[in-house]
Order: sequence, then structure tokens, then C-alpha cells
Amino acid sequence: MRLQVRILLPQHKIRKLLLQRLFYFVNCHMAKGTHSYLEDNRNKSIKIYVNGKIVPREYASISVFDSGFLLGDGIWEGIRLLNEKLVSLDAHLDRLFFGAKQLDINIGFSRKELIKIIYETLNANNMKNDVHIRLIVSRGLKKTPYQHPNANIKGSTIVIIPEYKKADKKVNEKGINLVTVNIRRGTSDTQDPRLNTLSKLNCILACIEADKAGADEGIMLDINGNVSTCNSTNFFIIKKGEVWTSKGMYCLPGITRKMVINICKEKNIPIYERDFSIEDVHASDEAFVTGTFAGIIPAINIDGYKISNGIRGELTYKLQEYYSEKLINLYPKI
Ligand SMILES: Cc1ncc(COP(=O)(O)O)c(C=O)c1O
Repeated sequence: MRLQVRILLPQHKIRKLLLQRLFYFVNCHMAKGTHSYLEDNRNKSIKIYVNGKIVPREYASISVFDSGFLLGDGIWEGIRLLNEKLVSLDAHLDRLFFGAKQLDINIGFSRKELIKIIYETLNANNMKNDVHIRLIVSRGLKKTPYQHPNANIKGSTIVIIPEYKKADKKVNEKGINLVTVNIRRGTSDTQDPRLNTLSKLNCILACIEADKAGADEGIMLDINGNVSTCNSTNFFIIKKGEVWTSKGMYCLPGITRKMVINICKEKNIPIYERDFSIEDVHASDEAFVTGTFAGIIPAINIDGYKISNGIRGELTYKLQEYYSEKLINLYPKI
């Protein structure tokens, strides 16, 4: 049947169909959920840092023998530029250098040098605001596709991709849908789920499962069956005025997660890092997820259970306000 359709359709129609498919894919999959962003044409001509050179995006490439490509062997950070300053840069670099140490990767740059090349990349693009950068460090070039670091022949590979990415505020207002997925968070002695490694297999499998179930993100349980986190954000619930999140042993130590915990402490909102079950989640008053890109996003439907009557809850809204205030105070307009 498929073959028949191909034979009957002229080339330009096939091309159109393929483009439509691509458009559908980009719009329905890329720009959906916690990482929804407003398309920005300026991204077509950004410059990217690759191993010491800042080049137009079409020339930004690394070898097929790179450890990151071959094995997902590396670490990364997603950092936001707000009013010409990189938000929580110290915390991001702490996490990056901690990950590098755990993976026994020599980044080859000091913190100061890394900061310098990040700002050089931003300056080369004349970027000031509403930018999200992806800083990627892999173990580097190999002489043959083999996992052992002794197959590596040079130092680390460093790539910095800065993009104009403004989060879609509608998502922060309207909220997202979550489902509990079967994929669990592992332990630190299997594949440490607290490290921000290039290999995101665990999260990607959870993401695919959630997507197939029609949800924006998947809630992942830990090995003991307690609620841990989501596949690309951290997860919180609110019960009777108390904010709960996992103990953090099985999730990425999110920088926004930490900020929200600190805001609760500063504002005398009871906050607990504790074990809780998916039934607690279904019966919660409010729920939300956190991440650098979009801040705080309400979760309004979880496994088909309406949370907070299917709209953003009051305390979630308050926390969003406190979070924005904090960012504006720390990174005021210049
Ligand atoms: C699995 C996972 N959890 C949570 C987060 C959010 O972390 P942060 O607040 O540091 O952006 C991320 C961000 O990349 C992530 O990949």
C-alpha cells in the first residue's frame, strides 16, 4: 500500500508531505511541555564555540570519533542568560566540575577560563537576554570507538551552544500534564542519577513513555517506589500548605529545585525533602515542576487525576512570583 502511494504521488507532493511531517514533529514535539519556547529566527545565524573556535552554526561540528558521540561520555549544563548575566553560574559550574570529577574527565579549563569562553561566545553573538546556553564537555577524541579512556588521544571536547530561547509563559500559567512512567531512577552505584551526564538514556526512555501516554513529562519513581523526579525537571507537591519534594538521592540536584527550597525557607513556607508515594501525589492540593529553562510550572493533571481543579494553584503562583522577584533582584536590568 505504501509503495503504491509513493508511485502515485509526484516528487514535489512527497516532499511536501515530508515537510508537513517535519513541521508537525517540530511543533508538536519540540515546542511542547516544560521546554516550550517561542521560535526565534535569530537562531538560524548563531555562532557556536567548538574547541577554541567560535564558528557559524553550519560549520559547528565535532568528529565521529568523539567520546560524546560514540558513548555519551561527558557532562553538560543548561544555563540561562538574564540581563547580561548567567543565572546561578557558580552552582552550574560546581555541578559540572563535580560531574567531571566523578567521570574522571579533565575539563582542561579552570572555572575562570570556562567563564571567559562562555562570555566570549555570548559577546560574539551580541547576546544580552532571553538566551539559554548549552555547555557540553565530552572526554574528547578517540583513536577508535572503544569505551576505555585509554583510547582517547586528546583532551576534552568543549562546545557552547547559545540560543535565543524565551520560555512560553502560557505553560507557566496553564500548567502541564504528567504520567507516572515505568522507568525508574537507578542508584548511585549503578548509573548515578544525580550526575548530569551526556548519556540521558534513563530520562529519554521515561520521556518517550510519557509522550506515548500523551503527557508532557513522566514522573519517575526511585528503586523503593517513592516519587523521585520528572524526566527533565524536578518535582514538588503541596499538601495542606506544606511543600514536599524527594530527598534528592535519585534525582538531578536541580539548581532551580534548590532555589525553590531556599525561597520556602526564607518565606517561612514549610518545606520537606521526604519520601512520598504516587498516591500522595494523586491526592495533593497542588503540584509543580522546576527547571532552569522555564522556572516553575504547575502540574494540573497527573495520571488522569485533576490537581488543584485543573488550574494553577495559589501557592504555586506565589512561589512563581517569589522566584521571579529573586531573579530580578539578583540579576537586575542593566
Ligand atoms: C533530569 C533533570 N532533572 C531536573 C532538571 C532541572 O535542573 P535545573 O534546575 O538545574 O535546570 C534537569 C535539567 O536539565 C534535568 O535534566
